[in-house]
Amino acid sequence: KVNEKDTDTLCCVTSTAPVNIAMIKYWGKKDTDLIIPLNGSLSATLDQGQLCAKTSVAISRSFKNDRLWLNGTEQSIDNPRIQSVLNEMRRRIRKRKFDESDLSESFTQGMSKWHLHIVSVNNFPTAAGLASSAAGYACLVHALSKLFNIEGEVSSIARVGSGSACRSMYGGWVEWLPGEDTGSSIAVQVAPEDHWPEIRVLILVVNDQKKPVGSTDGMQATVRTSDLMQYRAKKVVPKRINMIKKAIFDKDFETFAEVTMKESNQLHAVCMDTHPPIFYMNDTSKQIIRFVHDFNNEENTIRAAYTFDAGPNACIFLLEENVKKFISSFSRKFPPSSYENYIRGIPVNFEQPTPATPVKGDLLKYIIHTKVGAGPAIVGDEAESLIGNDGLPK
Ligand code: DP6
Repeated sequence: KVNEKDTDTLCCVTSTAPVNIAMIKYWGKKDTDLIIPLNGSLSATLDQGQLCAKTSVAISRSFKNDRLWLNGTEQSIDNPRIQSVLNEMRRRIRKRKFDESDLSESFTQGMSKWHLHIVSVNNFPTAAGLASSAAGYACLVHALSKLFNIEGEVSSIARVGSGSACRSMYGGWVEWLPGEDTGSSIAVQVAPEDHWPEIRVLILVVNDQKKPVGSTDGMQATVRTSDLMQYRAKKVVPKRINMIKKAIFDKDFETFAEVTMKESNQLHAVCMDTHPPIFYMNDTSKQIIRFVHDFNNEENTIRAAYTFDAGPNACIFLLEENVKKFISSFSRKFPPSSYENYIRGIPVNFEQPTPATPVKGDLLKYIIHTKVGAGPAIVGDEAESLIGNDGLPK
């Protein structure tokens, strides 16, 4: 914790934050500056043991300007989303009530004017196609709110960085309440990470060269041109949020899975209804959908659910007891060119169909095996900081 004596030295905080995967999808804004969504959404926060962002933020009177380094490269701090977060953070600092035992008002007010150095890394490859911006902005906001001692609701600060980032501010099962303005469009935890410990998540990383249309542009094209989108936001999503929340509370996997798959399909349906249409799934994605339905039909019970975001990679939700069976059966159908480093994350002892017969074009790169996990956390050990004593990346 900083105090007034330290004004010339460097104050630094390091946090880690998770990735989240939505079962009920956010797609479309009614306010593009404040990032107020057309409909609510609901996600699972993934364990940081497998996937996370890590961010160190430092402040010092000696810094000449704000600077940002992402995955080892300095980036412009003028990125409007980063600026929104910094402005919102500084606004909160200025308006908060000061507690006598806290930092003195003049000191923190002064601090809000000093410059920041921000260093952030993801521990997962961009190929994983995960919304790395969600973990990144959640991590930035967590670290800054600790540095400036901001108490209470901060998911709305993460939201102005990237909408889905507000859901990464909590662990477990998280709902983003759409709200009407910046104060009411916030994330809330609907159940903690230990509520349904049997749930496992497989991210099937598909081989794909194409760079899809980014979510930010894609969703507004949908809002502008799709008639289905209005129906979805008003009529479909509110019902599905209630259904899936009940399924999560009751640990009713079948209902959970059905709503999740229908939601994914509806997201891609409104993308197709966008004019001109947007395609995020490729042929492998569609084969994976077929595979999951066949896998479920085999024993006449829903044992796995797929969900796809703005890219071709599939995210599979299933119970731990079905992981081995799923991967064995999946790798028979989609044999990788090598089993080396094929399963990443939580180890699985599955039957390797030998020899692996590579199919033309290698449909799949690898699988990340993970589970539901906790929200952002402070990294206490200074050795783990990404910023050195000179205020620059280590
Ligand atoms: C398909 O949060 O990346 O992953 O708010 O413009 O930054 P911006 O968009 P972003 O959109 C994510 C959309 C999604 C669905 C979801 O995560 O709910």
